[in-house]
Amino acid sequence: MSVEVRQAKPEELSSGIAPVSHYFGSAPSEGTAQRFSRVLRPERMHVAEEGGQIVGGASAFEFQFTVPGAIVPAAGVTIVGVLPTHTRRGILTQLMRAQLDDAHERGEPVACLWASEETIYGRYGYGMAALCGETEVQRMYGSFRQPVEHGGAFRLLSHDEALDAIPPVYARVAAETPGMFARRREWWEARALHDSEDRRDGAGEMVRVVLERDGEGLAYALYRLKMDFEAGSSTGEVRVIEAMGVSPEATAGIWRYLLDVDWMERVQAELLPVDHALFLLLEQPRRMRFRIGDSLWLRLVDVGAALAARSLEGDVVLEVADAFCPWNDARYSFDGAKSMEDADLRLDVSDLASVYLGAFTFAQLQRAGLVDELSEGAVARADAAFRTDRAPWCPEIF
Ligand SMILES: CC(C)(COP(=O)(O)OP(=O)(O)OC[C@H]1O[C@@H](n2cnc3c(N)ncnc32)[C@H](O)[C@@H]1OP(=O)(O)O)[C@@H](O)C(=O)NCCC(=O)NCCS
Repeated sequence: MSVEVRQAKPEELSSGIAPVSHYFGSAPSEGTAQRFSRVLRPERMHVAEEGGQIVGGASAFEFQFTVPGAIVPAAGVTIVGVLPTHTRRGILTQLMRAQLDDAHERGEPVACLWASEETIYGRYGYGMAALCGETEVQRMYGSFRQPVEHGGAFRLLSHDEALDAIPPVYARVAAETPGMFARRREWWEARALHDSEDRRDGAGEMVRVVLERDGEGLAYALYRLKMDFEAGSSTGEVRVIEAMGVSPEATAGIWRYLLDVDWMERVQAELLPVDHALFLLLEQPRRMRFRIGDSLWLRLVDVGAALAARSLEGDVVLEVADAFCPWNDARYSFDGAKSMEDADLRLDVSDLASVYLGAFTFAQLQRAGLVDELSEGAVARADAAFRTDRAPWCPEIF
């Protein structure tokens, strides 16, 4: 029987989620499908159908995504899965073909995703484009080098208060942080502030706190408390879901708050930026036991448009090879125009994605044998142009 890959019909949302849901151990609940329907347009879901059964799916959220110096439309790839009865027959490849062609036609210069396994997406031109870290700090080692002076006050929020107080803080951070995307109210309701029992993993309800001064939100944290005891003493944990601030003082303030929750033994957090201020705030940063891994993977869907959007100055000609999206296979100047000049650097589109947000440098690519320097000094010139002052960060798996 042959497999057909096509756009999903609106009533097929649940069936399109089912293949990836299978790997989490259950069919998607009605609630899950309903929540996805609030943030995912049905025409952005592709499904693979065989003999009337949906055996695979891949979808894309429509993001306004921050890149260095700009905000661009982006496909936020999600809900990718093929049932184990149908794997290794090229179905994912067909889904990726349909999805990337679609993003290209819609004028989205980039696509991004979190990969379940690093081996999957490179063949489709995705490159590892951001890193993140996790930490577990024992509160007894949570002292800062200097006192924090944020000048504000903390307020615990109900769900509805959080819907008003937190999004403006997030929006300010997202707009200046490559790798973050704008969240609409539906996203806050259906995802970021959604707090069903199955998300708690044994911990308590989501706690929402904002740091304010003169009514202006400066920082916030979403977290849970997981209380436990050993021989009568607390081994409780603050599990940070996300925390961020609009200024250095506000960021320090919200982390001071989290590290000061009495009766807890430690603070645990994942999906942190790798250049987190905590490294320089804490007296004993080694005690963070920080572990780094990959976070966002990026696909330059339209290399010219992606280069034109990003802040770049200089005159390096890039020769980009792109086997999966041949419309990109060309030489480019930094303004995104296709160039007839000789190339200074030659590399694959997936490796260009790794430097695009600023997570890696051309010098690092060179040391890994992933870029050919065709004119002397081109790697250094390209790095000067691509340099960013902060590591890309995506605080949320989507
Ligand atoms: C990952 C997944 C979608 C792949 O689907 P698939 O239809 O088997 O993929 P394809 O048959 O199109 O494979 C294309 C190529 O990728 C390779 N590949 C696919 N999945 C891979 C994996 N998990 N690890 C390594 N290689 C993989 C295949 O071997 C094939 O290589 P080839 O072209 O050299 O022959 C499927 O295995 C799956 O649903 N896994 C569990 C859920 C999951 O991880 N989803 C991704 C969420 S981000």
